[in-house]
Amino acid sequence: MKSAVSRLAIAAAIPLLGLAPLNVAFAQNGPTPAQISSARPDSTAHPALWPHAASPAAMSDARTEAFVTELMSRMTLEEKVGQTIQADISTITPEDLATYPLGSILAGGSSGPWGDDKAPAQKWVDLSRAFRAAAAARPGAKVPLIYGIDAVHGHNNVPGATIFPHNIGLGAARDPDLIRRIGEATAMEVAVTGADWTFGPTLAVPRDDRWGRSYEGYAEDPEVQRSYAGPMTLGLQGELSADHPLAPGHIAGSAKHFLADGGTFEGEDQGDFKGTEQELIDIHLGGYPAAIDAGVLSVMASFSGWNGVKHSGNHSLLTDVLRGPLGFEGFVVSDWNAHGQLPGCTNDSCPLAINAGIDMLMAPDTWKPLYASTLEAARTGVIPAARLDEAVRRILRAKVKAGVFRPDRPVEGDLSQIASPAHRALAREAVRESLVLLKNEGSVLPIRAGARVLVAGSAADDIGQAAGGWTLAWQGTGNTNADFPQGQSIWGGIDEAVKASGGTATLSADGAFTDKPDVAIVVFGETPYAEFQGDVDTLDFIPTGPLETLRKLKAAGIPTVSVFLSGRPMWTNPEINASDAFVAAWLPGTEGGGVADVLIGDAAGKPRHDFRGTLSFSWPKNAAGAPLNHGQPGYDPQFAYGYGLTYAHGASVGTLSEESGVETATSNIDHYFVDGRYVAPWGVMLRDAGGQNKPGTVKNASSPRGGVSVRPIDDLAQESGQQFVFSGSGPAQAFIEGTPVDLTRQSNGELALSFRYRIDAAPQGSVGLSVGQGRVDVTELFRAAPLRQWRTLKVRLSCLRDAGADIAHVDVPFRLDTDAAFTVSVSEIELAPNANDTVCPTRP
Ligand code: BGC
Ligand code: BGC
Repeated sequence: MKSAVSRLAIAAAIPLLGLAPLNVAFAQNGPTPAQISSARPDSTAHPALWPHAASPAAMSDARTEAFVTELMSRMTLEEKVGQTIQADISTITPEDLATYPLGSILAGGSSGPWGDDKAPAQKWVDLSRAFRAAAAARPGAKVPLIYGIDAVHGHNNVPGATIFPHNIGLGAARDPDLIRRIGEATAMEVAVTGADWTFGPTLAVPRDDRWGRSYEGYAEDPEVQRSYAGPMTLGLQGELSADHPLAPGHIAGSAKHFLADGGTFEGEDQGDFKGTEQELIDIHLGGYPAAIDAGVLSVMASFSGWNGVKHSGNHSLLTDVLRGPLGFEGFVVSDWNAHGQLPGCTNDSCPLAINAGIDMLMAPDTWKPLYASTLEAARTGVIPAARLDEAVRRILRAKVKAGVFRPDRPVEGDLSQIASPAHRALAREAVRESLVLLKNEGSVLPIRAGARVLVAGSAADDIGQAAGGWTLAWQGTGNTNADFPQGQSIWGGIDEAVKASGGTATLSADGAFTDKPDVAIVVFGETPYAEFQGDVDTLDFIPTGPLETLRKLKAAGIPTVSVFLSGRPMWTNPEINASDAFVAAWLPGTEGGGVADVLIGDAAGKPRHDFRGTLSFSWPKNAAGAPLNHGQPGYDPQFAYGYGLTYAHGASVGTLSEESGVETATSNIDHYFVDGRYVAPWGVMLRDAGGQNKPGTVKNASSPRGGVSVRPIDDLAQESGQQFVFSGSGPAQAFIEGTPVDLTRQSNGELALSFRYRIDAAPQGSVGLSVGQGRVDVTELFRAAPLRQWRTLKVRLSCLRDAGADIAHVDVPFRLDTDAAFTVSVSEIELAPNANDTVCPTRP
């Protein structure tokens, strides 16, 4: 099963099984490199096999090194250890710096200034100034902070910033010069808000598109990463020059996630790469040498592992290879509490990571205990003094280069740079270049001058959906067009261009029309997700609404154009068959006008821009989702790597097979809401007296009359749960729905419907829990549960069957209903075995 929960459960189970977790024996004293290497021969790298790269000499010029040496001679052990710890702004205040001499802060996804993740740009400036002032007010060596943020498709945490297409779209453009210019624009927008450092470029080479982070990678073939890593690094940082910090308007980069984050088994986020060292070198090393040669100042270690050993503890990779043949002179930062996943470590303590080669620990919420335990480890020699000094030197060197010691901040506060006309034009150019034309039957595109155009699909006028994950919020959910005052939706761009060509455009989300249009454009696709919440089991595009719309329009004799938004190639053959033209638009961001630039012709009917994008990811022939990468034996895609039609060179694709290759209804019958996601084919539905609303995926939503609403909350991981608030205004239900499945075997086998829950406000009336029509009364059970504590409830399927569930055709595997006020959070809704811990509440 692909689930963070199961991974945690396995880790927790190891001691119970009596197996000593690997390395635990020497974790107390800190392992020697040799101990780590001898632990796992198949996850020990051999430096002699790796190619050579080198940080530019200008990174460690004599003046910088002398400055660092002098500074270190004045630093206490506390100050040195502080350099190795990074805290998230959601849990540290400037005042804390008086007590804790930390070296770095970050703003993670959904972490905004003073708790406001939609704070305007000026607040971000104020925040960085407040932290900087606090660091400068410290007694002692007064080492400035380095402040990092995920600016991974523009300065995407800051409202009003230019949001560029995610990397998957940029990969389709195959344009290194464009990449450099995007790096420059991004750096400028970050620098004016006072941050010093971005956690990018992402150099992942995604090999299994079921991975939720596929869209953060440029391509399945590392040739693209090799050609982009240098230009992106230079765009962000500029060229390093001896004796000088980065030029104003530039920021430090961080090549991530080292290594093979895109190579995990079954595309599981934070999972394991099961492969050889040669594959690491040939495929996943990809853009790293180029980024190092270009002077990238930091590298982020990957959450993931190699043959069972997590990278954050792999000395052979982080030290022997990265500082050996790869010649990296910057510093290595770990990922978000990744150290806590190492054997013998916890989020609060992990000398092993530092000893393996992590220079700075990303400890968003655990920095206090981690600082204390790391200090203790340094005092007692568990972390050798030489190793600590090396880490600190690397961090300080990068800080000098990043310019944090500069007395002035030349561009900070110049908010006119945020979404400047030049940056917006660049993003629009990037959108144009990223579009890939998969089909264009009968030359329906470009749309002719003067045409009457119907624009359908709920994504047409939704900038948040076009921007995807890592936009304002970590998951990119909950954004509306009002959050992007600088942006233009795809609809907005089409409307403008059609008018300019002398035609008319009409927006109709469901595709209904009164006057028959000449052509219809339907914009649809995946809704936003990030990291593990985006992992999927198949590449089937599940929602059926867009297909119905396309078919209706076609049946009415209207030519159809699909604009498909997604973070990965998906099996969409039915949708492609129902479209005359089909455009893969990826996650274009805030400049939706770039779509119309290519799709809508000029007043003379000529294309204004031709398509330039070609697939950097193979498009699948079925939905199964098995790894599909060009060059592999038996490679058989629907559209191959490098494919892309143009106006100049078209071709007919004919009718595609609609055999999905997976039984959606049976492919997943036992997981409904896991790891913060509704698992296909399941989605959430909210109903009250006014009808029903189907948000389907995780987002803030409510039933038509507000009888019940839902929002993401934290449980086992960030945003891994859902909170249902019943307002008490009348009967309301929250339920999970999908294609009917047969649970006869499961109910005979005494499996139970299992979920975690937390009562946030006790039920004021009776509450029912049902599967299909089988309902049991859980009022007393919920009333008896202590408030605000997570517990697990397991109700036997046989009990629900006896209560009236048609267990052979279950389309609703979970439903809560009540008429009265009640607030409950739930997570991990799935079938689970009976371990003598199941119940059968009374039937009403
Ligand atoms: C992600 C990184 C990101 C970091 C800070 C982690 O969960 O894996 O890509 O840079 O968080 O937000
Ligand atoms: C942070 C992300 C981080 C994630 C990891 C989120 O709250 O904002 O940056 O990657 O947690 O679980």
